[in-house]
Amino acid sequence: VFQDVPQAPPDAIFNLTKQYKEDTYDKKINVGVGAFRTDDLKPYVLPVVKKAEAILFNDANLDHEYQPIAGEESYTRAAVKLILGEDSPAIVEKRYAGVQTISGTGANHTGALFLSLFYKKSKKCFISNPTWANHRNIFSLVGFDVEEYPYWNPETRGLDYVGLLQSMREAPEGSIYVLHACAHNPTGVDPTQDEWKGIAEVMREKNHFPFFDCAYQGFASGDLNKDAWAVRYFVEQGFELFVCQSFAKNFGLYGERAGNLTIVTKSETNAQGVLSQFEKLQRSEISNPPAFGSRIVKTVLNNQELYNEWTKNLQYMSGRIIEMRKALRDKLTELNTPGTWNHITDQIGMFSFTGLKKSQVQVLKEKYHIYMTENGRISMAGVSTKNVDYLAEAIDYVVRN
Ligand code: LMR
Repeated sequence: VFQDVPQAPPDAIFNLTKQYKEDTYDKKINVGVGAFRTDDLKPYVLPVVKKAEAILFNDANLDHEYQPIAGEESYTRAAVKLILGEDSPAIVEKRYAGVQTISGTGANHTGALFLSLFYKKSKKCFISNPTWANHRNIFSLVGFDVEEYPYWNPETRGLDYVGLLQSMREAPEGSIYVLHACAHNPTGVDPTQDEWKGIAEVMREKNHFPFFDCAYQGFASGDLNKDAWAVRYFVEQGFELFVCQSFAKNFGLYGERAGNLTIVTKSETNAQGVLSQFEKLQRSEISNPPAFGSRIVKTVLNNQELYNEWTKNLQYMSGRIIEMRKALRDKLTELNTPGTWNHITDQIGMFSFTGLKKSQVQVLKEKYHIYMTENGRISMAGVSTKNVDYLAEAIDYVVRN
């Protein structure tokens, strides 16, 4: 029965991790997947996460019962508050819902699946060019006609704001636009607040649906509230929208798959109807969300002292990334590597979109055992004082040859 099943291509990001693990060369570097590493290139368990774990393990009442289908309210409410802000009109007017998802990917998938069933205005979904490799997979698998909107301007190494607005104006009414809430993956370039205002204006004119993906709250500016600005602005402007949240990066809970889908509707009744349908979908897909990661997250988000400590842990992570941006740029400047490298420090978030070509990325892998995505994206979280010189020298070589 399976003889006609064709081989699917390996995943653009996780296949790099596999190749890296199999590589025995001692200077190998993994700057592929967006996962934070300490300066010793070790995975980082946030101290506040360890504290929350200790609280959980010492809780004599903790059991392993099923969670509610949409997750515990103490978790989803805290997640919604984190992204929308405590005094959000959507929260005050109770026209929101939260669904615990299998991290950001699950939020994208469940949100997309829901829209494929209940969103009647359009079957067109626009994703940025470039974007996180999984967006296309997720939206096309549930039946959307996926197209790209211009985002990255290679000339200016910045946002193609004119192209983006033009795409929004020309797109069919009511199209779905997948927007990165902050720390755009892979470019590290976000619209300014004024640009966001312009985007909102055109989206309103054209009745487009904003589908925010927020996987890096806390990594763009280092401030959780500032990083939520665009989403909060759209809510203030009266949009109905979805926001996908991942706690993989900002809590370092990659494998625990703790995420949330925040839904903002026009009325409380609408929110309840939408939530009931999400519960139906969720039941058929994962039944009940996993408990461990979400328990850690809610323990921290619902305790002011731990929350404050979390922001400090976040600052350590984002601060180390900023230092590594500077170190890489300084080293390339010192080597007189042809080209300009200011974009490495201008870009924000976990990634640097280097501008290296596919052929150069290939040489970096084959000759230097440096693993990065084909589009020239470097996960700055995989750069450290131990490997930055080697990385810069390798980049210098491929740029010159
Ligand atoms: C990445 O872009 O490297 C991360 O978001 C990991 C993933 O799920 O692809």
